[in-house]
Amino acid sequence: MAFLKPKEDTAAQVDFDRLPRHVAIIMDGNGRWAKRRGLPRTAGHAAGAENFRTIATYCKNIGLDYLTVYAFSTENWKRPLEEVSAIMGLLKKYLLESIEKMERDRIRLHFFGDLSPLPAELREMCGRTDAISQRYDGMQVNVCLNYGGRDELVRAARAFAADCAAGKSTPEQLTEEGLSQYLYSAGVPDPDLVIRPSGELRISNFLLWQSAYAEFYYTDVLWPDFSKEELHKALAAYQSRSRRFGGV
Ligand code: FPP
Repeated sequence: MAFLKPKEDTAAQVDFDRLPRHVAIIMDGNGRWAKRRGLPRTAGHAAGAENFRTIATYCKNIGLDYLTVYAFSTENWKRPLEEVSAIMGLLKKYLLESIEKMERDRIRLHFFGDLSPLPAELREMCGRTDAISQRYDGMQVNVCLNYGGRDELVRAARAFAADCAAGKSTPEQLTEEGLSQYLYSAGVPDPDLVIRPSGELRISNFLLWQSAYAEFYYTDVLWPDFSKEELHKALAAYQSRSRRFGGV
């Protein structure tokens, strides 16, 4: 009789009472996932968006407080128009569905990034989601849209300079805590764990300020294949590390 190899029990490796509060994910590898299957890149983004939903729901179920995902960077406009439009279309579809589900899940959806160049309909949906979110108290999902870490810091510096010019502050008064209030992430604790699938070992302008003391987890698995089991592995790796925040 042939033995069935038991499926690796990745959940057993995780201490669910000691989860990170905030997990951030660079959803990378959609294009390669599609290419390996002989599909157009846009099919990879569709699979990636579907996986976002699976992983976000699971994160909510296990009790994470914050999940931040990189959906579209300030640099992604350089992609072919067809691909950019496909990503915008997916965002619209998933936002619309999320708005319907938010009541049940009480998830708060927020957006980090400059939404002004986005299609009007998408912008309007983001505004609506933000407004509905105010009523809820569940997990907060931050979707980084037209987001860049450097752009975020430039905007923060400009806003602070404007406050100084208006007599509301002085350069000497600025602290790290003070500057963080000018970022899209104002009020959100820094990510504890940043996950990047697809084998790339870069930060790619993602949460530059906020990830100063984050633990990083990289894997070769492509984002559409990044399952709950892969998340368990990332959480277990995080829990095996000793975070010293510059101390001993
Ligand atoms: C990176 O993979 C992925 C993106 C630039 C887009 C991510 C967008 C989604 C998953 C869809 C919408 C998101 C939500 C929140 C519903 P890549 O194209 O760089 O992959 P590659 O490196 O293999 O080419």
